[in-house]
Amino acid sequence: MGRVFVAGSINMDVVATAERHPRIGETVAGEAVFYFPGGKGANQAVASAKQGVPTTLVGRLGTDAFAKELRTFLAAQGVDLGFVKHTDNMHSGTAIITLANADNTIVVVPGANGLVDADDVAAPVLAKGDVAVSQFEIPLPTIAAFFERARAAGTTTVLNPAPAKTADSALLDLVDILILNETELGVLAGTELSDGDPPARFAEAARSLAQGKTICVTLGKRGVLALLDGGEPMLVPGREVKAVDTTGAGDCFVGALASQLASGEPLRDALAYANVAASICVQRMGAAPSMPTREEVEALLPPRRPGEIVTSARSSDQSWHPPPAPA
Ligand code: RIB
Repeated sequence: MGRVFVAGSINMDVVATAERHPRIGETVAGEAVFYFPGGKGANQAVASAKQGVPTTLVGRLGTDAFAKELRTFLAAQGVDLGFVKHTDNMHSGTAIITLANADNTIVVVPGANGLVDADDVAAPVLAKGDVAVSQFEIPLPTIAAFFERARAAGTTTVLNPAPAKTADSALLDLVDILILNETELGVLAGTELSDGDPPARFAEAARSLAQGKTICVTLGKRGVLALLDGGEPMLVPGREVKAVDTTGAGDCFVGALASQLASGEPLRDALAYANVAASICVQRMGAAPSMPTREEVEALLPPRRPGEIVTSARSSDQSWHPPPAPA
């Protein structure tokens, strides 16, 4: 089994629940305040570790009280924190979240996340069969340095370009699998998309970014649209569930998918698995604490056919293989 390495952010999410979101300039009465571990990198690492796959997080915390709480929580989830540094005179990443009717608005203050650098991501030793994952809550040049090392080791690279921002082609060229929602796709492809658009519209935008990579467009309860190496799109349907908090659902999808690829599962099965994981996550409050375990996901997956081996392809026609390691 390969390992998952996540270079990314670690935040404390300060969540206020309210009956509705305030309009600009307005104050509304809240209902409750929660402190949930979060941050896209940490969420993805927890989602992967909880599937039983060895998972290492590379990142930074501050030296504040949140740092201690976050480290304790992440260690308890089974995430390897050997490459998470503490930065003096800096606070840990903090996200201020308003949650109303299961939807959120988020302001992220990066703190120590903004200082994750090329030396940090050079520390772990990656290998062929591993999966390297990152997102846009740490500096983009750091992500490029991480993926350059990953590529040199023959490690599969997975980028979740969230929160949405533009990126140069030098970074995107280092990506094997791009996982993004319609907003992020619109920003990277330079086109306006909305969640009600037909799948063909997303496929067209995704194709413009493909350039040899696999693209997975997450469409919430509609499921995920995947383009393998720019080929024919395949739609893996989602599960209809009643969401209470969608925070971290995209991260759950990314972490769960990475764990399955590191375990050698074909892409189609990994996508179906990640869809189920995310559908469990949205039914719980908080980001990192709502990541499901492998047992919880497997209980909802369709049964395997008799005689099928756990690590074998459930749909070998769609299997995805990591790129060959450079000579
Ligand atoms: O993707 C959800 C995450 O985004 C939250 O946990 C919050 O920390 C922000 O980074």
